[in-house]
Amino acid sequence: MIELVTDDYVRKQDAADPLRAFRNEFLIPRHGDREQAYFCGNSLGLQPKGARAHVEEVLDKWAMEAVEGHFTGQAQWMSYHQLVREQLAHVVGAQPSEVVAMNSLTANLHLMMVSFYQPTIERTAILIEAGSFPSDRYAVESQLRYRGLPPHLCLIEVEPDEWNGTISMQHLERVIAEHGPRLALILWPGVQYRTGQSFDLKEITRLGHAAGAMVGFDLAHAAGNLPLQLHDSGADFAVWCHYKYMNSGPGAVAGCFVHERHANTERPRFAGWWGHDQSTRFRMGPEFVPIPGAEGWQLSNPPILGLAPLRASLELFERAGMDKLREKSLKLTGYLEALVRECLADTLQIVTPSETDRRGCQLSLRVAGGREQGRSLFEFIATQGVLVDWREPDVIRISPAPLYNTHADVLRFVSAVEAWRA
Ligand SMILES: Cc1ncc(COP(=O)(O)O)c(C=O)c1O
Repeated sequence: MIELVTDDYVRKQDAADPLRAFRNEFLIPRHGDREQAYFCGNSLGLQPKGARAHVEEVLDKWAMEAVEGHFTGQAQWMSYHQLVREQLAHVVGAQPSEVVAMNSLTANLHLMMVSFYQPTIERTAILIEAGSFPSDRYAVESQLRYRGLPPHLCLIEVEPDEWNGTISMQHLERVIAEHGPRLALILWPGVQYRTGQSFDLKEITRLGHAAGAMVGFDLAHAAGNLPLQLHDSGADFAVWCHYKYMNSGPGAVAGCFVHERHANTERPRFAGWWGHDQSTRFRMGPEFVPIPGAEGWQLSNPPILGLAPLRASLELFERAGMDKLREKSLKLTGYLEALVRECLADTLQIVTPSETDRRGCQLSLRVAGGREQGRSLFEFIATQGVLVDWREPDVIRISPAPLYNTHADVLRFVSAVEAWRA
């Protein structure tokens, strides 16, 4: 074990990392005369150096061409969202026609529920996890109220059945079986934001569909973190943001997946002109004819400046490949886990499942001694240039991101915690 906590060890690991060059594609915030050990990719990913050029390209085009910018060149604004479509589909394992970059995560979730939450007399219930991300819960509850349905009867929240606040598939299966005939929709996370637990999307979809429900996923913490096979999972829809592991900037334009089998759906939707058939959009007719596939859910012409950084980010994902990133992520998070267990067990308890097929990059660490100790540790390591993220009341979330984090970063975290304890 001693060998694992030396500078020499981390240097060798990082030198042998086939993805090591990608770190240099990012702007790493500084702490004094050195770079931060930045572990908040689960909150706001770092800026790809290429983002500025893409944003400036839009600004320049606007300055020089103004309205003509909609129609000129390869990066014309009329079809700008399509520049990201193929690469985005690769990241989430979908067909290009199944994905679209638009709006924000919560806005997309509402749009998806308008179409895929269709309560009937027998089936009114939506099933989510207890302690889901508040925005998801607010969205679900407001959808119920909007349709005149009482949340206390129609919202089913699955409580964790495991000691660390995680949910076993057996438990989820039991709950789905118990409520099956009432279920209209299951909305589930790909990776749970507090615990870092990841879920088997295909199996959840199978269970949900067998019960007669629609199944959608919030992939805020899964997109760019885990290799996904959204198409093969059979999920009806999914939504995610691009500012976390997807490194596209604060409030970046979000992502949305609609399975191919719904490409030409007659389901109700909230429509806007950018979802209208492109060949006739500018005839400005009164009748809405949706584009087949996910693009048919677009409302407005997209914020081009907001989309530009996503292009830079996706170029990196395309070059690195999700499978290679996952390989590195397993090593980095595995290294972090080993060091926490061996060196910091009396200070930090790992909440995230230890099985690698039940987690992504993130480890959630409960600080011994409660909130006060936790805050003290969190604030101290920040003074050492180690940035992690805090969740009330006593949890530190730390996410080594394989595009830019290193074994040396992980060792810095461990050394900073040891310094706080000393
Ligand atoms: C799991 C999850 N769902 C939903 C959201 C809300 O995202 P937005 O503010 O982009 O709508 C977040 C934001 O961090 C999140 O982590």
